[in-house]
Amino acid sequence: MMFPLVPQSSRAYAQAMQLSARVNRLKPSSTLAVNALAKEMRQRGIDVIGFGAGEPDFTTPAHIREAAKHALDEGLTHYSPIPGEPAARAAAARKFARDNHLDHFTAENVIISAGGKHSFYLLTHALFDPECGLEMILPTPAWVSYRPIAEMAGATVVEVRTSVESDFKMTPAQLRAALTPRTRMLLINSPSNPCGTMYSPAELKALAAVITEHNAAGGKVVVAGDDIYEKIVYADTAFATIGQFLDPKWSVTLNGMSKAYAMTGWRIGYAAGPVELIKAMSKLQGQMITCIAAFCFPAMVEALDKGEPDVAEMREHYRQRAALMHEYVSRWTGVRCPRPTGAFYLFPDISAWFGHTSAGGTPLRSSLDVATALINEAHVAVVPGDEFGGCGPNHIRLSFACSTEKIEMGMTRIGEFVRTLG
Ligand SMILES: Cc1ncc(COP(=O)(O)O)c(C=O)c1O
Repeated sequence: MMFPLVPQSSRAYAQAMQLSARVNRLKPSSTLAVNALAKEMRQRGIDVIGFGAGEPDFTTPAHIREAAKHALDEGLTHYSPIPGEPAARAAAARKFARDNHLDHFTAENVIISAGGKHSFYLLTHALFDPECGLEMILPTPAWVSYRPIAEMAGATVVEVRTSVESDFKMTPAQLRAALTPRTRMLLINSPSNPCGTMYSPAELKALAAVITEHNAAGGKVVVAGDDIYEKIVYADTAFATIGQFLDPKWSVTLNGMSKAYAMTGWRIGYAAGPVELIKAMSKLQGQMITCIAAFCFPAMVEALDKGEPDVAEMREHYRQRAALMHEYVSRWTGVRCPRPTGAFYLFPDISAWFGHTSAGGTPLRSSLDVATALINEAHVAVVPGDEFGGCGPNHIRLSFACSTEKIEMGMTRIGEFVRTLG
């Protein structure tokens, strides 16, 4: 039996129900689809190794969990202020000053939402209108959710294609060429999902200079820096956020608790920017979810104020895993993959395998074929690169948010798959 990687949706049901065109156009996230399939196969007794996950395999540190338990026992079970409890907003502002040289933020500049994904949703809906003709510049390959969320808000997504040769980084010249009078937003995600690389402070400064020049000439470009992988870095240069180099009026910083503190299931994201923009996002949040769960705020404060030792410990694991996985990938002939410098992904160019047939008889013509053959034949779940945009269709995404034993086992299986290609 062959398991399909693309979920089969019921078109007939959608037509009968007359679901909205907006929702019908929306594709389910391919990363979530891979993980759901891996789970289903495991339930059927198949030993699938998962390199698909976009989440830490660690449990949230105990002192952070305790803070939430304590909050529940103290009766923090009611609605909170829409943009979040003042203490948690203040903790985020402190964090931005301490870690990111963004010392102009106060609690008022911060909104706390149900995850980084939700923060991005609020931001795009605060900046774009349906069919507004305004553009969002997105360097690709990029996280699968940016495009659909921005498009739902009414943005036209303008891709700037990057490649393995530039470690998947956009140059100032590329950015300059992509800017138009209609550009409303630039998204920078560093370290990057899916690329596993990050911009140096000097590179970010050069990109920021292009925006500053454009806005000085009448442009109205808001730069969103998605720093969700900020703590998972092992580059030679330090982490920087693009907001450091911008006029605060044109900058929004997105971050969240999911990746740094192994808190994906808590659904806590936060964003900081100009007060008027944060108020607009808050108005929308008030009509969407009201606020996040009240007992999460003390846990967020605990993590932001006292979580650095946990972060450092997890980072060390990621550093070792990154080196190990990259070593395996470098043995595959014809496959190119930059050395990972941040996040927990590798994004190898596997197009050298196209035109071959797997030992199980699957012709490999695309990244989806490769991912489908890998999960069915080698029992290793990887994410096909197609939906990340740009050169993504020549790549697969491998996540090393799993133990070194699993990495060794899974990479050995993929090695065997490659060795037996016909
Ligand atoms: C680049 C990037 N930004 C934002 C998010 C959102 O994370 P969350 O909604 O869990 O905070 C993710 C999750 O995969 C991501 O990879």
